[in-house]
Formats: sequence, C-alpha cells, structure tokens
Amino acid sequence: MAVTEASPAPDRFDPGVDAWLAGLGLVRDRVRQELVRRQLVAHLPAGPEPLLVLDAGCGQGTQAIELARLGHRVVGVDLSETLLEAAHIAASGEQEDVRRRLSFVAGDLLALEDGHAQRYDLVCCHGVAMYLPSLAGAAHALVDACRPGGLISILTRNRAGIAMRAGMTGDWAAALDAFDARHYDNRLGITSVRADEPDEVQAALAAAGATLVAWYGVRLFSDHVGQRPPGRDFPDLVAAEEEAGRRDPFRSLAALTHTIARLPLGRKR
Ligand SMILES: C[S@@+](CC[C@H](N)C(=O)[O-])C[C@H]1O[C@@H](n2cnc3c(N)ncnc32)[C@H](O)[C@@H]1O
Repeated sequence: MAVTEASPAPDRFDPGVDAWLAGLGLVRDRVRQELVRRQLVAHLPAGPEPLLVLDAGCGQGTQAIELARLGHRVVGVDLSETLLEAAHIAASGEQEDVRRRLSFVAGDLLALEDGHAQRYDLVCCHGVAMYLPSLAGAAHALVDACRPGGLISILTRNRAGIAMRAGMTGDWAAALDAFDARHYDNRLGITSVRADEPDEVQAALAAAGATLVAWYGVRLFSDHVGQRPPGRDFPDLVAAEEEAGRRDPFRSLAALTHTIARLPLGRKR
C-alpha cells in the first residue's frame, strides 16, 4: 500500500470530512455501500482474470477494499489526506494478499497524470461528482482513465431525492423549495451541492463516449432516517432497497443514482 503527497487542488468535500467519518458504519452508509457493491458486482466478469480498477474519490476505501477482496487490483485516488489515512488504516486490517492488491494515491481525479489514461478495466466514482464543477467534466475524466471495452460505475446525487428526503422528514418548506432545486445543503454541512437527474448522467457519459449498461436507485426507504446503527432488520431493509433500486418508479426517487456504462472496444482517445 502506498500513500503519496497530497495535491493542492481545492476539495469541496473537505468541510464534510468529519461528519462523513462519523456516519461510516451507520445504517445510511451501510445501505449505500451494500447496494453499490451488489449492483456493481453483478456487472463484473465472472472469470478468474483480475481487473485493474481505479476508485476515483475512494475516500475511506470501502469499495476499493471490497473489490480487492474479490481479487481485483485497485488504485484509490483521493484529495483528502484524512480519508486516505482512514483507507490506509482500514486496509491494514485485511489479509496480506488483499493489502498487496491495494494502493492509495493522493490526487485530483480531474487532473490525473497521463500514466492513468486508458489504463483501467473498471473506473469507479462513487459519491464524488456532486462536489465537482460539472458532470461533463467528471464523465470525461472517468472515460479518459478507462480502457476501450472497460466499465464505468458512477454514483451521483439524484435531484428528485432532495424533495423526497425533505418530505419524508416532515420539512415541508424544504420539500417545497426542493422541487425545482438543482443544489442543496447536505447533511455533512456542505452547502450548494449539485444534484443531477438520471438522464443527465447518462447524457454526460454518452457525450464522453460511454454507452449505458444499467442504472439503479440507491437508498429510497432509509434515506430520511437518523444516524443510527443497522438494526436486526438490516438484511430485510437491504433486500427491499435493492428491489426498489432496480425498478421504476422507485429508483427515480432514490437519494442516489448508480449508473454503469461501458466504453466501446474500438474507442480511441
Ligand atoms: C462522499 S465521499 C465518497 C467516498 C467513497 N467513494 C465512498 O463512496 O464511500 C467523497 C470523496 O470524494 C473526494 N473528492 C472530492 N473531489 C475530488 C477530486 N477532485 N479528486 C479526488 N477526490 C475527490 C473527497 O475527498 C471524498 O473522499
């Protein structure tokens, strides 16, 4: 495992780091991570060949570690030294072979060095695009890092989910404001976070050269709940969330949208 020098690029997520860390392992985080994992793994090749994966904005490394446990080699890139350190600590509890497949590198996914170009079989970017200046810029950066024929997995904030959460918590004024909103102040204390519609994500990926494979909703029934640990009903909750996430109209109202796209085999940079 390697942790290198941090990039000086501004990180819009930085004010939310402590609150994000405090929420790890609680029910909303666990539902999110488990759904993303299941939805993604269903699209990975079943064969023994390990993939080379980029986890762009890997944060504390949850998905990077899950993928390394499956045998894949994963490079996690993030701007936050604090979260890279958390990833490093989490990975240090893994078995030696899993640890060897992981590396964590400080850097800006929007300014990756040329060595990353067209390199990865799978490029993940989960819960990051809403903090980046544009969806188009994010899509281009992810596509640039992906090899022809490779997969992209991107988790974005869903615009309809803003009003849903406000309404489900009984905050009627916020719900009314949210119907036409593009931005919102999130629970981590980060202001004016962008939320995108599923077809906008698909259009941005298509414009960058990637073809839609599937899209899912993530966290519909449990998005409004408070910060509490998973209860005994967690497996049933995840099963219900997974079902809602894969079918209309439920997936359109979830807090997050998980989009999986593929680059054509013949694509040139
Ligand atoms: C909500 S956390 C998500 C962490 C992880 N991907 C997950 O799903 O659990 C957002 C992460 O994006 C990182 N981030 C934000 N902008 C970034 C950028 N331009 N390049 C790399 N990482 C970035 C933040 O530092 C933070 O770790």
